[in-house]
Amino acid sequence: MPGLFITFEGTEGGGKSTQIALLAERLRKLGHRVRVLREPGGTPIGEEIRHLLKHHPANEVMTPEAELLLMNASRAQLVLEVIRPALKAGEIVLCDRFYDSTTAYQGHGRQLNLALVKSVVDFAVGRTRPDLTLLLHVPPEVSEVRRRNRQARTTSPRDRFEEADRAFFRRVELGFAEIAQAEPKRVRKVDATKGIEAVHDDIWQLIAPHLSPAGN
Ligand code: TMP
Repeated sequence: MPGLFITFEGTEGGGKSTQIALLAERLRKLGHRVRVLREPGGTPIGEEIRHLLKHHPANEVMTPEAELLLMNASRAQLVLEVIRPALKAGEIVLCDRFYDSTTAYQGHGRQLNLALVKSVVDFAVGRTRPDLTLLLHVPPEVSEVRRRNRQARTTSPRDRFEEADRAFFRRVELGFAEIAQAEPKRVRKVDATKGIEAVHDDIWQLIAPHLSPAGN
């Protein structure tokens, strides 16, 4: 029985990690085998790349092209080392971001050529595509406040992405909206302004039809 591959997308501050943790817990209680991953990262190599992309002091001069390739180097490693074997073993894979983030951030945000971005992504993932993508949506103002709060926390390390300007995040937001419109069957929008439990319930309604009985 092939597994199930679900990705979570959206701009900063949509509460993706909280929702993934809640969903994983509920699925495990029902007896499903669940793998929680994040991008960039999820493997030892990917986590090194994540640090380089987000926090390394040298990333101030990183070009959008290098950013695109590093995101997809991390992804190629994750797909081959973890995602494909997990799906083959029948696990449910929950991934915090996947290639829609590349289209939104590097394509729309950094304004790289979208056809080029797509070909790099295709090379990195091959036929490994999400069965379902949940786009956790909060308005740009909410996302900005949550981003600022995160930056203000003195313990948080500097983050290259959180330093981008408002126009960048606006383009990312529009990028996600375009993706959802282009693939309405795979990409389902979730109103993430509701309370944590209400958002979890909405997510559960969307994933339930994809679940097979636990243990199969
Ligand atoms: P996060 O784990 O806090 O969401 O941080 C990951 C950051 O990386 C976030 O700002 C979005 C960004 N990102 C891209 O720009 N492109 C990608 O392909 C992925 C997976 C993430």
